Amino acid sequence: MAAVSSEADGRTRALADGNEIPLVGLGVWQVPDGRECEEAVAWALEAGYRHIDTAQAYGNERSVGKALRDSGLPREDVFITTKFYPARQDPEAEAQRSLERLGVDSLDLYIVHWPQGGPTWAWDGMQRAHERGYARSIGVSNFSASELDAVFAIADVHPVVNQIQFSPFEYRRGLLDACDGRRVAVEAYSPLGTGRHLGDAQVADIAERVGRTPAQVLIRWAVQRDLIVLPKSTHRERIEQNAQVFDFELSEADVATLDGLDRTNGTDRALESLWW
Ligand code: A2P
Repeated sequence: MAAVSSEADGRTRALADGNEIPLVGLGVWQVPDGRECEEAVAWALEAGYRHIDTAQAYGNERSVGKALRDSGLPREDVFITTKFYPARQDPEAEAQRSLERLGVDSLDLYIVHWPQGGPTWAWDGMQRAHERGYARSIGVSNFSASELDAVFAIADVHPVVNQIQFSPFEYRRGLLDACDGRRVAVEAYSPLGTGRHLGDAQVADIAERVGRTPAQVLIRWAVQRDLIVLPKSTHRERIEQNAQVFDFELSEADVATLDGLDRTNGTDRALESLWW
């Protein structure tokens, strides 16, 4: 299987704080710690991914760290995100624990996983983690426009990312606009609807016409919508396939068709229902 070209894996954008982030990252939500996670990360790094997205709540930081070390890649070549688990108290102390589990000196991005207990209480600890050098960039996840506003109202260091569930079917235009206005980059998690959107007839039509897979069409849509996108897979060919989205372009008409699949009514909310 051909590796992703270095040109493709070099696709990055600058965050508001100047740090560069690769547009496509491997998400490892629901990938168990141990061999399965190590393999997925190893295959991604071999295929040219330079961005891995984990979380304290996923319980697989150790495997991500092991695969990173085993890859032999220089630490600075790979962008590592983890997320503060907000059922805990202290983002700064938890960042240190993540660093130990990952076996790295600093995180590229550290984000509040969800606004449990309100949007602002954790931010002071996030800023301390940033100030101490545990994280080069800090951000949030699953924050609505109003929750983001609340953080901006109290922040010295602004969040530069909001990681949210985003796809043509969850095209949260209001939230995307609010993030754009704040220079907060949107990261799309579950860009394939955890697999559900891959069987959609309109996605399949476009995929057939452009000679790509439904997964590639959904990931490419996110790239063309200026998002950072985090597809998850534990299968080698799919991991490779999901990164090969920089050698084709969707037409304006196809992007518009995909935009039209939105079921959120262009919401500025991050979630339809809370899980905590
Ligand atoms: P698997 O991990 O078994 O490969 P999302 O990124 O929206 O969370 O979607 C992840 C789901 O989609 C997983 O169930 C994953 O399965 C599946 N998946 C990921 N990439 C592909 C692909 N290229 N083709 C088919 N299914 C995929």
